[in-house]
Amino acid sequence: MVKADVLLGLQWGDEGKGKIVDVLTPRYDVVARFQGGPNAGHTLEFDGRKVVLRSIPSGVFQSGMNVIGSGVVLDPVLFMQEARELEATGVDLHNHLCVSRKAHLILPTHRKLDAALEAAKGAGKIGTTGKGIGPTYTDKISRNGLRVGDLEVDFEKKYAAAKARHIKMLEGLGGDTDIAELEKQWLEAAAYLRGFRIIDSEYEINAMLDEGKRVLCEGAQGTMLDVDFGSYPFVTSSNTMAAGACTGLGMAPNRIGDVYGIFKAYCTRVGSGPFPTELFDETGKRMRDVGHEYGAVTGRERRCGWIDLVALRYAVMINGVTKLIMMKSDVLDDFKTIKACTAYKIDGKITRRFPFEADAVEIEPVFEELPGWETSLGSARSEEELPENFRRYVAFIEDALGVPVVILSVGPDRTQTIIRNR
Ligand code: GDP
Ligand code: IMO
Ligand code: MG
Repeated sequence: MVKADVLLGLQWGDEGKGKIVDVLTPRYDVVARFQGGPNAGHTLEFDGRKVVLRSIPSGVFQSGMNVIGSGVVLDPVLFMQEARELEATGVDLHNHLCVSRKAHLILPTHRKLDAALEAAKGAGKIGTTGKGIGPTYTDKISRNGLRVGDLEVDFEKKYAAAKARHIKMLEGLGGDTDIAELEKQWLEAAAYLRGFRIIDSEYEINAMLDEGKRVLCEGAQGTMLDVDFGSYPFVTSSNTMAAGACTGLGMAPNRIGDVYGIFKAYCTRVGSGPFPTELFDETGKRMRDVGHEYGAVTGRERRCGWIDLVALRYAVMINGVTKLIMMKSDVLDDFKTIKACTAYKIDGKITRRFPFEADAVEIEPVFEELPGWETSLGSARSEEELPENFRRYVAFIEDALGVPVVILSVGPDRTQTIIRNR
C-alpha cells in the first residue's frame, strides 16, 4: 500500500518547513496542508526570489496538485491576497490547488474576537498571531463553525447567525464590533474562493493513494504548539503533531509512511510561554541577528536559545518521527562553543521529561558543550565538504534522539541543502 509522508515542526514553529517541503516536492504528486491557517508563514527561496506562504501549501511551485485539507482554517481575505500574488508571478493556481469543503472559515468577527480575548487576558496573553485562529477552532469544536462548503448553500442565513452571536460576545468583552469594511472585503474574497475546485478532500486523497500517487502532508506551527501536547495554554488551537495529518485529511493512521521531523540547530519561539533554553544575553541576540529571527508574518522578534533535546525527544516520541531534518546550521558558524540541553533540573532534581506546568516551575537546563566548527557552511553541497566538528554535532543529536538526520540545511536557498544517504 502506498503511504503518505508527513513533514512537521518539532519545536515552536518556524523550523524551515516551507523550504524543505519545496525541496522535497519533486518526489511527490500531491502536497496537502492538514491544519493551522494564516498563522503560518512558510518561507521559500529560489532563483533569487523569496516567497512567504500562509494558507497555500509549499508545493505550489513544483507540485502537480496542492490541497488545503479539512483540518485547515481559511480566511478568504488573506487567501485571496496570497493567491493573487502567486497568480501575478505566473503560478497557474486554479489548476494546481483544491480546497476541502470541510475546511472551516475564519470570519471577520473571529479576528476581532482573537484581539478582544487576548486583551482580556492582559499579562497572561498568549501572543497570538491575531488571525482569528483560536476563535475559529473554538466554533468548530463547539459545533458552531461555518465551512467552505457552506458557501455553496444558504450561506447568508448561516453567516448572519454566526455574526450576531459573535457581536454579542464582542460586546461582552468590550471588543471592537466595527466590521463593515472587513465584511465587504470578506464577502468579495469568499466569492473568489468559490472559483477554486472545492473538493471532498478525504475521498480524493484516499483515491490518490489507492492509485499509487505520492502524497506529502505539510504541517504548520510545531509540536510544542500542539493544543493537546504542547506547552499548554501557550499553544495554537490545532493538532500540529503527526496524528493531525489523519484528522486533518481524513486519512487512516496505517496510511502514514515516513514522518519527517524538522528542527533548527538551535531553538526559537515567538509569542509567550515557556522556553527552557532561552538566552537573554549577547549569544541569544547573536542568534537572532545572524538567523534573521523575526516573524515571517508578524515581523515580531523571535526568542532564541540553544537546542533543547528534552523537548525534541518528546516531540520525536509523540510523532513517531522516522527521519530528522536539521535547519539553519549555518547560523552557528561563528560560535566557538555550541551547547545542547540534555536534561532539566527542577527543584534540584534532574529530569528528562518535559514538565506538565512548564510555565510555573523553574527549569534549569543541563547543558553539554561541544566545540564549534568556526567555518562557513553556506557553500557546502555535499557531506564530504562538512567540517569534522559539525559532523560531530549532528552525530551527537542523532545519538540523543535515536533517529537519523537525513537532510542538512546550510542556508535559506533551495540549493543550500544536503541530502544524506541514511
Ligand atoms: P516555517 O514556518 O517552518 O516554514 O519557517 P519560516 O519560513 O517561518 O522561518 C524559517 C526562516 O529561516 C526563513 O526565513 C527561511 O528563509 C530561513 N531558512 C530556512 N532554512 C535556512 C537555513 O538553513 N539557513 C538559514 N540561514 N536560513 C534558513
Ligand atoms: P509556522 O507554520 C511560530 C504561535 C503564536 C502564539 C501561538 C498561538 O510559520 O511555523 P495563534 O495565532 O496560532 O492562535 O497563536 O502560536 N504561532 C506560531 N509561532 N510559527 C508559526 O507558524 C506559528 N503559528 C502560531 O506566536 O504564540
Ligand atoms: Mg513560519
